[in-house]
Amino acid sequence: MTKIAIIGFGVVGSGVYEVIRTNATQITRTCNSPIDIKYILDIRDFSNHPESHLFVNDVNTIANDDEVSIVVETMGGLEPANTFSRLMLSKGKTVITSNKELVATYGDELFALACENGCAYYYEASVGGGIPIIRPLRTCLAANRIDAVYGILNGTTNYILTRMFQANVSFEAALKEAQEKGYAEKDPTADVDGFDTGKKICILSSMINGKKINHEDVHTEGIRSITLADTEFASAFGYSIKLIGSCKRAGEKFEVVVAPMLVSKDSQLSGIDDVFNGVMVSGNMLGDALFYGRGAGKLPTASAVVADVIDAAKNAGRPYFAPWSKADENVLVDYDNIKASMYVCVKANSKEDLEAYVSANFSDSTKVIFSGDYAAFITDCAPIKEIKQKLAGIPASVCNTLMVL
Ligand code: HSE
Repeated sequence: MTKIAIIGFGVVGSGVYEVIRTNATQITRTCNSPIDIKYILDIRDFSNHPESHLFVNDVNTIANDDEVSIVVETMGGLEPANTFSRLMLSKGKTVITSNKELVATYGDELFALACENGCAYYYEASVGGGIPIIRPLRTCLAANRIDAVYGILNGTTNYILTRMFQANVSFEAALKEAQEKGYAEKDPTADVDGFDTGKKICILSSMINGKKINHEDVHTEGIRSITLADTEFASAFGYSIKLIGSCKRAGEKFEVVVAPMLVSKDSQLSGIDDVFNGVMVSGNMLGDALFYGRGAGKLPTASAVVADVIDAAKNAGRPYFAPWSKADENVLVDYDNIKASMYVCVKANSKEDLEAYVSANFSDSTKVIFSGDYAAFITDCAPIKEIKQKLAGIPASVCNTLMVL
């Protein structure tokens, strides 16, 4: 019997309880022994809960109970999750988390603390919700050098962009819909400005690098700038627009970017719509593999947390190795030096002047599409700083520039 505690009984924490109760028979068979929830920590009143006897409000009740070997942290945010996780790890208790902010910010320190204390720190649910991506990278793909990992890591923005493309709904209206459906928060900043995706891609990038890649150092753009003119032009060129978190190996360095990008309709990522997530991984032996599914939501995310609990219970006492350590040098390629094709949308007074400038400055194959006062084209692949320099002299006002994946 493995005794566990859940700290934080919100959406994911209550989902963990539900998954363990609903699938108890199967979990016991997989683990070869039952998982027993001994405590649930939450400061709110759960006296009407059918198992109200499980609820405690002092973290030390859990920390000081030697019977509890695994603690599930589903609080979210940095504090007090960080302090509580360190307390549990320092007591030799394995911690399982869904908290991307904590893993992206202090993962290196928490892994080291787990190693020092003979326990482990698991984080499958921190990226891609219920989609398996962390464990495949650590185990199934371990014989590969991972050259790229990129994809749609945020369900809320994918829903908004899907509505803009499929129903011609403006960004503001699609955001309101996403809020009404409970996907987007009242303050949608973390999702729509790309910070949520930034933390997730940095977790994956740090795994590939073996050293921390700091989300604050990564070029991050959100989707607020996308207009219905952009969706119309992108469709005309044969693309959709997706918020992409991307990490590509470039020699000893990495190109890590979070931005809305044009994704060719030929790419499998282009057809991933609504709140679904999709992560493409390129290994030097395997080639490409796509991981697709529900990247958020109570039970999908909780199922990934409980999978970690099962793994931890089965591997109790085995040596644990930190997936990454602290950064000792900056391995990021400067955004301006990344080579890319860029989609450019402009408002032009003279069609002829614009076409002459584009054909003189970009390759002959660059086609300009016009629609009312607006025009758009896709540049050839060049360092972003060169594209920016050429755009500085364009006889039109630039409305938007987006990378092409
Ligand atoms: N807000 C996130 C999303 C939840 O929309 O994908 C999962 O991290």
